[in-house]
Amino acid sequence: MLPDTYAEIDLSQLIKNFKGIRSNIKKTTKSIKHVCSIVKANAYGHGISEISKILAESGTDYFGTANYRESIFLKTHLKKINHGSIPILCLGVLPQERESIQEIIGNGIEVGISSFGQAEMLNNVATSVNTSVNVHIKIDTGMNRIGLDIIEAYDSILKIKNFSHLKIKGIYSHLATSEIPDDNFTAGQINKFIEIVREVEQQTGEIKFKHIQNTGGIINNPSLKFFNMIRPGIILYGYSPTEDLQLPDRIQPVMTFKTKVKFIKKVKQGDTISYGRSYKVKHTSTIASLPVGYGDGYPRLLSNKGQVFIRKKLFPVVGNVCMDWIMIDVTGSKVRLEDTVEIFGKNYPVHKISKKLGTIPYEILCMIAPRVERVYIN
Ligand SMILES: Cc1ncc(COP(=O)(O)O)c(C=O)c1O
Repeated sequence: MLPDTYAEIDLSQLIKNFKGIRSNIKKTTKSIKHVCSIVKANAYGHGISEISKILAESGTDYFGTANYRESIFLKTHLKKINHGSIPILCLGVLPQERESIQEIIGNGIEVGISSFGQAEMLNNVATSVNTSVNVHIKIDTGMNRIGLDIIEAYDSILKIKNFSHLKIKGIYSHLATSEIPDDNFTAGQINKFIEIVREVEQQTGEIKFKHIQNTGGIINNPSLKFFNMIRPGIILYGYSPTEDLQLPDRIQPVMTFKTKVKFIKKVKQGDTISYGRSYKVKHTSTIASLPVGYGDGYPRLLSNKGQVFIRKKLFPVVGNVCMDWIMIDVTGSKVRLEDTVEIFGKNYPVHKISKKLGTIPYEILCMIAPRVERVYIN
């Protein structure tokens, strides 16, 4: 039995998106790029187990995660589905506890290194268990979040290079404003990164993976030959970081957030709708109640602001969003009980919602609550 409210995840669309990204980048750079599919935050709310399986079968070269719990969960899952050999790069910061570091090493997770201290700690534990660890050096070129300070990076990397049990397999950085076309700051970050990598490689020899492009970087700076791996996140799921940044046509949303019309009633002028009575009915109206609310990740800030898509039309949310319900005005329409409602998806893109709330699509996707079943199709 399907639940009334669920997130429908179209796996064939995910495959199309993955292949589209890969073939576009191949066309523009005329070279083969490795793809590190970013599946952090439960694959941007889409469900890491199913998404990683499809991406593994589609040929992803790497997975990128945000923290070590995600990484170890993913590793265990990939082993179960016979894709345990696909490397996982954890983009987070190494924990301090020895047992945790041992677990990371034991699971063969590749470690993003953001400071010399982290490298030293990792090498100490790796030496004690006599296991070599693959690391990717993270350089901060202007994001100022995590990463080796660009000024100190060169010296630190040469010292890390000498650690007995660390192998520098990659070097990477992260862009702060990649979604803006022709952005000077992005160009500066890219140039700084290329420069430091060149200097480092003169001493260390070639580093296998060099990567900086997230979705914005892939779209706005597709032809960067210097880098041989890309790190697509939101584009895999069919969304652009901003409404203004156009994705290639065949890249489409993977998720449709759906519910159903479960109750319809007439209300008269002067009646009010929902908690707090924030909406007053102006004339006799028909109100439909939908079983979705902030408990499902439909933000309460959409009270009297949201819209939903039913039978090819948009209908406004009236009154305050409840934990489990929203009400919409369907006066004069053909809307009937049990009609399917698109909260967001191909017809009503998630950007429309994020824009109303002054946020980004990433946040709306990540807010879909655990109680919303993910239903996989195709
Ligand atoms: C280090 C790193 N790389 C890649 C990504 C993927 O970014 P996007 O979803 O914009 O493609 C992220 C996401 O925030 C990230 O933190």
